[in-house]
Amino acid sequence: MSHKQPSTEFPLGVVCHPGQGDLDCLFIETPGAQAELFLQGAHLANWKPRNHQPVLWMSQKSHYTPGKPLRGGVPICLPWFGPNPDNAQLPLHGFARLLPWTVSRMTQSPDGPVTVELTLQSDATTREIWPHDFAAVFSVTIAARLTMSLEVTNTSSVPFTFTEALHTYLAVSDVRKVTITGLEQARFFDKAAGGVAKPASGTPMQITGETDRVYLGTRDSVTVTDPGHNRRLILSKAGSEATVLWNPWIAKAKAMPDFGDDEWPQMLCIETANAMEHAITLGPGACHTLSAMIDVEKLP
Ligand code: BG6
Repeated sequence: MSHKQPSTEFPLGVVCHPGQGDLDCLFIETPGAQAELFLQGAHLANWKPRNHQPVLWMSQKSHYTPGKPLRGGVPICLPWFGPNPDNAQLPLHGFARLLPWTVSRMTQSPDGPVTVELTLQSDATTREIWPHDFAAVFSVTIAARLTMSLEVTNTSSVPFTFTEALHTYLAVSDVRKVTITGLEQARFFDKAAGGVAKPASGTPMQITGETDRVYLGTRDSVTVTDPGHNRRLILSKAGSEATVLWNPWIAKAKAMPDFGDDEWPQMLCIETANAMEHAITLGPGACHTLSAMIDVEKLP
């Protein structure tokens, strides 16, 4: 594990030791929150702001196995979101969530929040799957507000195009009883309906069945009001033009070996993305940053 250790001192409240499945994991405790961050996939698996229930959902059936995605938390989809556009045999949502990332920096601000930066760079393995040179940096600040950013740089001499998502699994009391606002004015691509473009609904969203939507042209924050957990989750973002909403519902949950049959009511994915028509093209040396923030408020 030594090659993955940062050269800097560990900030107070940060330890690195094997997590579930013996996968290397940073356990972070700050005055405002606790978190668990796996080095495989730079995968945030827990964020619990002080005086609140955990905000991220993890499946009890998740794999914790090298090279297999974790089910829950915040998988990083990169350098493509969903199926690879040219080769359906390649892993869904790209390879970034399957590979070990390197801790490149850890800092602590005087009032306590810890920021960890993890890096993934192209190498012979990634070039075999995706023939481009890049550097990706995932930065996460653990505090009462969760701040995540994903910066992708083109380190080659030719342009490339990619899609991406911070595939956030939110823990909810019962997905059928939450209300989602902030997407009312956005048109969307409805994957659950077989892949059809649909106009903006104009109304707040409630989940009543399998849901798999890519909302397009979205810059506003999205709020999930959850009376059962007595809280509101507010997801804001920058550098992102798409928002994905996903809940597998009954049959799809049963079909996934790493997802408990009865777990679907307790989760809702709201993914901060650049996908479909919002794919990003970077020239040589150019970089792009996508950021996602989560705030939690108790309901009055
Ligand atoms: C969502 C996709 O982002 O992720 C869904 O829109 C997909 O189509 C879901 O089923 C989960 O993907 P995976 O690869 O983690 O099972």
